[in-house]
Amino acid sequence: MSGAPYDVARVRADFPILATQVRGKRLAFLDTAASSQRPLAVLEAVDHYERTSHANVHRGVYQLSQKATDAFEGARERVRRFLNASSTREIIFTRGTTESINLVAQSWGRRLGPGDEILITWMEHHANIVPWQMLCERSGATLKVAPITLRGELDLEAFEALISPRTKLVACTQIANALGTVLPLERMIAAAKRVGALTLVDGAQAVSHQRVDLRALDCDFYAFSSHKLYGPTGLGVLYARESVLREMPPWQGGGDMILTVSFTRTTYAELPYRFEAGTPHIAGAVGLAAAMDYLDGLGLERVQQHEQALLARATRALRAIPGLRIIGEAAHKAGVISFVLENVHPHDLGTILDDEGVAIRTGHHCAMPVMEFFDVPATARASFGCYSDDADVDQLAAALGRAREVFG
Ligand code: ALA
Repeated sequence: MSGAPYDVARVRADFPILATQVRGKRLAFLDTAASSQRPLAVLEAVDHYERTSHANVHRGVYQLSQKATDAFEGARERVRRFLNASSTREIIFTRGTTESINLVAQSWGRRLGPGDEILITWMEHHANIVPWQMLCERSGATLKVAPITLRGELDLEAFEALISPRTKLVACTQIANALGTVLPLERMIAAAKRVGALTLVDGAQAVSHQRVDLRALDCDFYAFSSHKLYGPTGLGVLYARESVLREMPPWQGGGDMILTVSFTRTTYAELPYRFEAGTPHIAGAVGLAAAMDYLDGLGLERVQQHEQALLARATRALRAIPGLRIIGEAAHKAGVISFVLENVHPHDLGTILDDEGVAIRTGHHCAMPVMEFFDVPATARASFGCYSDDADVDQLAAALGRAREVFG
């Protein structure tokens, strides 16, 4: 489709689930930030793999096992290319972003001790808070949190003031899931480098919405989930710079991560297998590779433009609704819009919207400190993907108008 104008109707036709009716109404699926839907290309790639190629990987000399291994390792190369990483040795398959971050905390984190600091921001997902809290409890290191502003932007000056030679790791999101804020990663990574700190980027909300070039970004760790990139659930990726990974001890022990095992001494496999104990999610990796092909076929830059236009349309429409407050008004935002409606609990709002066929997420979005900062118990959140269209936004605005009538 590259070259031609972005044809969202054609994109939507690739996603069978979007034809779903909810109580006789058109489904307006606006919860892509929680999990994206899968295009036929992904469903078919997984199905084809399961029907023709499945066996365990790295374990059999027979043809089918080699076929499965080729599919799995082909997917690893596809991920490397998608991210522009230097080597497949730097691409570790995990269960998701959460596991990727926990891997870093539990393996790399073992070197930390009292006096060391980890710096995160106030707008992190719990997956980029709790593993560091657990690590600090174990190691005696300290967790520092860079503040945010009322617009939902990082207070960059305060962030830079918190960085010191004690900082060993800066771990931050690329796009805040509850606010949509795009973080100024270049400056943050440059500041971390000045003091010799490593950097971890939680790319869960970014990797399918903007081009990620890891060699240009130059972070040390990058984590994301397949299911937010139009791929299967239960699979994620941790990118780790090879020189850093070489110094990290294995974290989970078991099959596939070893070279030799005896009761006196066990030796470990080469990178990246040393960090992949147990049978991996082979079909998931095949699906993720297909999702990357699909997204590249659409053109990520054009998807981003399309989502930005939807964000602008939704922001205009929501601002016109009396009593509605948008939470997170950063100058640089991705296709996520969080809001509260006066006198209506977000969960009640979610139920009314569901009656109108509109699927949004309501709650704390696994970002309770953000809720606390904005002094709200929860928000409603609409989020866009490559298949979202103007009709989704208009259906949301109309449903909010209806909620306004119901609650007065
Ligand atoms: N982290 C996902 C979200 O923001 C589940 O909804």
